[in-house]
Amino acid sequence: GLPERVTIYEVGARDGLQNESALVPTEVKAELVTRLLDAGLPIVEATSFVHPRWVPQLADAAELMSLLVDRLGDRGRDLPVLVPNERGLDRALELGCRHIAIFGSATETFAAKNLNSTLDGQFAMFEPTVRRAREAGVDVRAYVSMCFGDPWEGAVPVAQVVDVGKRLFDLGASQLSIGDTIGVGTAGHVTALVDAFVEAGLGTEHLAMHFHDTYGQALANTLAALRAGITTFDASAGGLGGCPYAKSATGNLATEDLVWFLTGLGIEHGVDLDALVATSAWLAGHLGRPSPSAVVRALSG
Ligand code: HMG
Ligand code: MG
Repeated sequence: GLPERVTIYEVGARDGLQNESALVPTEVKAELVTRLLDAGLPIVEATSFVHPRWVPQLADAAELMSLLVDRLGDRGRDLPVLVPNERGLDRALELGCRHIAIFGSATETFAAKNLNSTLDGQFAMFEPTVRRAREAGVDVRAYVSMCFGDPWEGAVPVAQVVDVGKRLFDLGASQLSIGDTIGVGTAGHVTALVDAFVEAGLGTEHLAMHFHDTYGQALANTLAALRAGITTFDASAGGLGGCPYAKSATGNLATEDLVWFLTGLGIEHGVDLDALVATSAWLAGHLGRPSPSAVVRALSG
């Protein structure tokens, strides 16, 4: 059967904006995060404390987080932020952030492209980061990228993904987000991968799915994941997003498309679709082009 309720983990302000080349003003980002919270999204990832040269769009992470903490207090401190290393952790701790996310790669090539590291080397970077975060009482989510296919290496074996994902989770994370970074996964592959994680001892209560909709498979994949017992789904308002270090990574599963789909199945999500569509239409105005989400286009005529 299907779950009664799911948690949507909103990544638009981070995964969505990181791929935009025209700089979005910090004030607009703060308003985006606030509007997403107001639309009922329970978890809104805000930004990344990565090297500013690697992701110039998010170079204002400190300014954004201090604005959000000023305005939202503890709710601001609870917004998750991406952190790749100890330097990123220091920057996040300085602002009182209480939820971080590390992001590893299931493949050698993407570890080099995205982290300037290697498949094994990334653990040396994450281990002290997670240990120090946990000592500071900070919750850690772990992402694993390229779980279905990699633009340089092609198909990625399920066993390799489970091995890397488990190692990342076992550093001390509370949740592992399984990323289809380039959107090539299909439903049968989703089922096989989730089953393999469960068999390896990482239960569905600790797993989230992170779909990109490049090949239009994200909702079919979501249904497969729901049937396999997953109850947390990453999505990006308006379907923005992609990874600047993965060619052919286009938009994430749009939060509006996910909300429409879940509502149709009678699954609770707590999100006000009209408020969310209005937010994505407002952001599309700032970005100067229409949202790629079918639901946003249908509802914001
Ligand atoms: P590096 O150049 O190897 O860094 O980059 P380094 O450790 O050699 O340090 C070089 C300099 O950078 C030093 O400064 C450091 O202090 C500084 P110097 O001493 O030379 O003056 N530095 C930093 N400054 C600010 N913040 C930091 C930081 N770290 C070092 N955190 C690094 C390695 C990991 C930093 C770099 O590769 C990086 O920032 N990568 C991030 C790439 C990224 O953000 N990608 C997108 C997010 S992942 C994604 O989108 C996938 C996901 O959505 C899931 C999915 O779809 O699959 C999550
Ligand atoms: Mg992503």
